[in-house]
Amino acid sequence: MKEVNNYLEKNKERFVEELISLLKIPSISADSNYKNEVIKAANAVCVELEKAGADKVELCETAGFPVVYAEKIIDPKLPTVLVYGHYDVQPADPIELWDSPPFQPVIKDNKIYARGAADDKGQMYMHVKAFEFMMQTDQLPCNVKFIIEGEEEVGSVSLEGFIEENKERLKADIILISDTSMLSLENPSITTGLKGLSYMEVEVTGPNRDLHSGLYGGAVANPINVLCDMISSLKDEQNRISIPGFYDKVIDASDEERALIAKTPFSLEEYKKKLDIDEVSGEEGYSTIERTGIRPTLDVNGIWGGYIGEGAKTVLPSKAYAKISMRLVPDQSDEEISALFQKHLESIAPKSVKVKVNPHHGATPYVMPIDIPEYKAASEAMKISFDKTPVPVRAGGSIPIVALFEQVLGLKSILLGFGLDTDAIHSPNEHFGIENFMKGTETIIHFYEQYAKMKAE
Ligand code: BES
Ligand code: MN
Ligand code: MN
Repeated sequence: MKEVNNYLEKNKERFVEELISLLKIPSISADSNYKNEVIKAANAVCVELEKAGADKVELCETAGFPVVYAEKIIDPKLPTVLVYGHYDVQPADPIELWDSPPFQPVIKDNKIYARGAADDKGQMYMHVKAFEFMMQTDQLPCNVKFIIEGEEEVGSVSLEGFIEENKERLKADIILISDTSMLSLENPSITTGLKGLSYMEVEVTGPNRDLHSGLYGGAVANPINVLCDMISSLKDEQNRISIPGFYDKVIDASDEERALIAKTPFSLEEYKKKLDIDEVSGEEGYSTIERTGIRPTLDVNGIWGGYIGEGAKTVLPSKAYAKISMRLVPDQSDEEISALFQKHLESIAPKSVKVKVNPHHGATPYVMPIDIPEYKAASEAMKISFDKTPVPVRAGGSIPIVALFEQVLGLKSILLGFGLDTDAIHSPNEHFGIENFMKGTETIIHFYEQYAKMKAE
């Protein structure tokens, strides 16, 4: 395509300003206090898509937050790219750990700091600007449809029904998503897999009320102690998960696949330094990249109970709780894993307590083969803008709707993400490099060209 770099350079400041306005809207889907703000963000996305030249821009109501739909059909005979992204963001807390307010974006060291900067407003907005360029310069080479949702951070509950009810409208040839990371600007990569997710809440009940820990301690089971024992028994000395049947469906990586992973440009020293840790930890026999990419994991996300106020209160609590997530790989099913987890926890619970296990939303794992032409188009596009062939990397994160896109619409998703793992998504001081934003926009434009060319062949 012509004029790409020129146009992007000339309009860079405006792009950043527009993104900043979007980032000022605290569209936190998990917190009902922000309901109006989430809807405000949806409307802002509609306005931006319309301005960029999309037709049939629509705020589609659902039982939850609206889905933004838009399209530009230049010729029904040409292939169609379906762009997915999300305008909702994670809560900002702990707010006191931010160096600047999460919804008052600031630019520092050529990075935009704000909640949602990388996940996913900044990455979603690259698609709006890439589309704007192709419309402005009359170079859109195929049809495009957009669905931008507002519930990704809470499990995409309403979107599932939306895609089932809108199969015809969402007809496309490939899905394009920027909601993942790459290795670095020097080492571009394409995400070829997403983890599945089982998320459980555990409640352990001991005595019917909090007790004096001197009068009853040592004689009545302490639910916090019991919960800790149960949790620590979930992994063995090799850091393998000890839930019976947990690994049954795991497809082990082939030697070739592992050899390819071993070539991933990655510095363990740098990784540890950035996190201020002296040693990494994980399943024995696997590298860090393998642990995050191709192996299932189990983590406690939160644990509470008893007295946590100021000073000391001697109490043997009645209850203890934990939230536990398991990241899954093909062909594990979140429903099966949730059931195995529940059964196992109930079976190891001592008679001295009662254990309740409640599953939350889940996600099915996803992989993308690298020998399909769409991957090659993405790879070519990255090669043009980064001057280097990207390497495939499987991500540790999850995007629940991606597996459903495949099940319901029969479409593969290309995960062309431009964030970095160090962008602090979901954490205080989330940020997105302006260079990542610009390079990402450029790459998306090249993708359309490569993809249309490949489909025409
Ligand atoms: N964009 C992330 C997922 C992601 C980030 C994948 C980086 C790969 C690399 C997404 O918004 C997210 O946070 N997903 C959640 C799942 C959801 C059910 C809350 C996750 O992975 O925890
Ligand atoms: Mn995201
Ligand atoms: Mn997220």
